[in-house]
Amino acid sequence: MDTTRILTPDNSDFWENLYRSGQTPWDLGRAAPPLETFLSSPYTVAPGKVAVLGCGKGHECALFADHGFEVTGVDFAPSAIQATLEKFHERGISGSKGYLLERDFFQMHEYDHYYDYVLEHCCFAAIHPSRRRTYFYTVKDLLKPGGKLIALWWLLDKPWGGPPFGLDKNELYSLFDNMFSIDISFTPTNSVRERAGAELLTVLTVRD
Ligand SMILES: C[S@@+](CC[C@H](N)C(=O)[O-])C[C@H]1O[C@@H](n2cnc3c(N)ncnc32)[C@H](O)[C@@H]1O
Repeated sequence: MDTTRILTPDNSDFWENLYRSGQTPWDLGRAAPPLETFLSSPYTVAPGKVAVLGCGKGHECALFADHGFEVTGVDFAPSAIQATLEKFHERGISGSKGYLLERDFFQMHEYDHYYDYVLEHCCFAAIHPSRRRTYFYTVKDLLKPGGKLIALWWLLDKPWGGPPFGLDKNELYSLFDNMFSIDISFTPTNSVRERAGAELLTVLTVRD
């Protein structure tokens, strides 16, 4: 770890420090309940290749793997990758149905058009708002034609500062307008208590 760099949420050392010092308030210790419910519902999507951007300790990677998806966890914090790797080992899927990329997900262009799905959970709130439009371009590039972004957005009423950075539904919709069409969008009823009423589950299909 380079101790001379200024730490901002755009660099891995910022996040690695938080993991190493145990300051991970976003980590639920399990997959987000609305995503669990979604994958068991009649509205779920068929298993395919999914990239989990900013996968953290891999709770959602494990959930999607358990539902038959081929999962690639992407995170630039080594501790996050290690924790996710352990979940893949527990399931015996490392290197067969569970893959890991320790890197910046804004820079993984060799995987363009490789994935059927991208999953967002609690990572969009972690990136600086100035990069949000780029996030959607990145997701669009990673997806195959007709691919989908499955996302549990955190609509946090917070005008300044972060991470987590605030997000409102109208801003969110305007960010992906023209790039994605909406298949599903609803407020889940089984969010964890601290996020109750402030989450939005969407499935978006990339436009041609
Ligand atoms: C708030 S945490 C959420 C982790 C996980 N999604 C969860 O819900 O527990 C944000 C994660 O995104 C990762 N991250 C942020 N920006 C990233 C980037 N540009 N490339 C790769 N990982 C990134 C951080 O290292 C961190 O693990």
